[in-house]
Amino acid sequence: MIPLSELEVHEHDVLVVGAGGAGLSAAIESSAQGMTTGLICKSLLGKAHTVMAEGGMAAALGNVDSRDHWKIHFRDTMRGGKFLNVWRMAELHARNAAARVRELEEWGAVFDRTKDGLIAQRNFGGHRYPRLAHTGDRTGLEMIRTLQDHGIHQGVDIFMEASALDLVKDKEGKISGIVCMWRETGKFALFKAKSIIFATGGGGKGWEVTSNSWEYTGDGYAMAYEAGAELMDLEFNQFHPTGMVWPPSVKGTLVTEGVRGEGGILLNSEGKRFMFDYIPERFASETADTEEEAARWLAGDESARRPPELLTRDVVARAINDEVKAGRGSKHGGAYLDIANQRSAEDIKKKLPSMYHQFKVLAELDITKDPMEVGPTCHYFMGGIKVDADTSMSNVEGLFACGECAAGMHGANRLGGNSLSDLLVFGSISAQGAAAHAKKLNGFPEVSEEDVNAIIKNATDILNRESGENPYLLHEELQATMQKNVSIVRIKDDLEKGIEDLESIKDKYKNVKAAGASQFNPGWHEALAMRNLLITTEAVSRAALMREESRGGHSRVDFPGESAEWFKYNIVSKKGADGNMEINKVERPEPDAELKRIAESTLEELEKEVAEDQKNGR
Ligand code: FUM
Repeated sequence: MIPLSELEVHEHDVLVVGAGGAGLSAAIESSAQGMTTGLICKSLLGKAHTVMAEGGMAAALGNVDSRDHWKIHFRDTMRGGKFLNVWRMAELHARNAAARVRELEEWGAVFDRTKDGLIAQRNFGGHRYPRLAHTGDRTGLEMIRTLQDHGIHQGVDIFMEASALDLVKDKEGKISGIVCMWRETGKFALFKAKSIIFATGGGGKGWEVTSNSWEYTGDGYAMAYEAGAELMDLEFNQFHPTGMVWPPSVKGTLVTEGVRGEGGILLNSEGKRFMFDYIPERFASETADTEEEAARWLAGDESARRPPELLTRDVVARAINDEVKAGRGSKHGGAYLDIANQRSAEDIKKKLPSMYHQFKVLAELDITKDPMEVGPTCHYFMGGIKVDADTSMSNVEGLFACGECAAGMHGANRLGGNSLSDLLVFGSISAQGAAAHAKKLNGFPEVSEEDVNAIIKNATDILNRESGENPYLLHEELQATMQKNVSIVRIKDDLEKGIEDLESIKDKYKNVKAAGASQFNPGWHEALAMRNLLITTEAVSRAALMREESRGGHSRVDFPGESAEWFKYNIVSKKGADGNMEINKVERPEPDAELKRIAESTLEELEKEVAEDQKNGR
């Protein structure tokens, strides 16, 4: 047993885990609240999936179309999420996004500009007006750069390349700290804290084709689950419609929705603009701008204001999938995305510089001349740690979550661009919640030496056993079964097969072995991350099997269409008393009547109401 006095120990009022947009926003706000604040990340500061939100951050600034308003943004978000969003979270987001984007600008973010010098906004799927504030196609990067700069000057203690292993709680069940491992030395450290905020992103590395990089192994979900937190809506995974499909070494790398936002169109191998064939009648009348617009879409009118390529991501991803299955895919099994014939070479290089560069370098393709090949890539988790909307606290006292690792904001499907504004809004809200909690406590909650040692032993057992399973092979096995069986289109038999495979991988994992010592040992890091991926993918698979309907990012061939019955429920997973995953249907609370009215209004009604609000300065 290592005495706590012999461990490296750090103490902060608030500790943030994860240094993407959500973590950095949370740390900045926590420090602004007067809290001593630590920020740990397992990678280098700034290397976060936030940068993969390239096309922009959605906020009703009204710079390009002055009719935009938080109520319309809220309505779009609820409709995009197929009404399964936590209503209050969608409200908080829509109301606060514009202020947070302006704040980011004050902190130095350099945005593209309108002719009048305002922040420029572009179209994205499911958004009624051009709403995405952007910096070319590098918006996430600009956000990270700005937040990093601001955070460092605000006095946040930053710890890089520290993998968080597990949480510790006091005797009353309050969070008291987290045990970490320095990736470089393999040494352990205890971070004591009054409140801990998880901003750990998603778990796309459970799938073979993903826009996520190596860090995204569901660490936050798994650590929260092990500490007794509830996970919600994990069945809703977003497959972004446009990842690269060629060459194989970069398969899954994101191709920003900004390409379609700037006018790019999707074509099949027959040169047909196939998205017009994928507009379900009800969907069109629910989300098109007006009934007249819906009718034009359905009639294949290419001059409709919003092109069908900008339907929500779930619809576009499934359409590409169907075209490929029907034998009309591109040369390497995707669809063609053409911007070359839609915009001048000069415009393309100006508005989509990273895409131009990415295809030149990785695929030897000039997108100002030739179409790109694209296909769905696992991009984002709508589900995550269940939190209170106003404070971001989970059911474990002192544990908060924000950004992709928190559930609720996006319902069954996220609108592109809503994640960057989500990170700013809920990064800040979670820090206010965490600071309020920390201020209530008298001193640091106590840490049990036994619990810390148990966490360290679990980690070192992987190095110390004589022989065992190779973590890289287990990871490959997991990705293969998830890609095949728990993918973009699902069916009972496949899901059951996926769960059976998972159980077998879990069994092998009990005996996982990393060769070598604890310093600079990527095999060990992989083995530690596998525990988290297994919990995450199990929660996804079991929830996907339970939800017998198709809604947003969860599509069941055997249960097509949305079900009024299933609309009443979220699926919540937690660790049961016997150590196995418990999975339950939990009835959703009734929405606030005013929010329901706004979301269910017709566009014409709401636009009139907003015009009146704007006249009266609301
Ligand atoms: O396509 C994109 O630029 C991604 C944006 C997002 O995921 O929000």
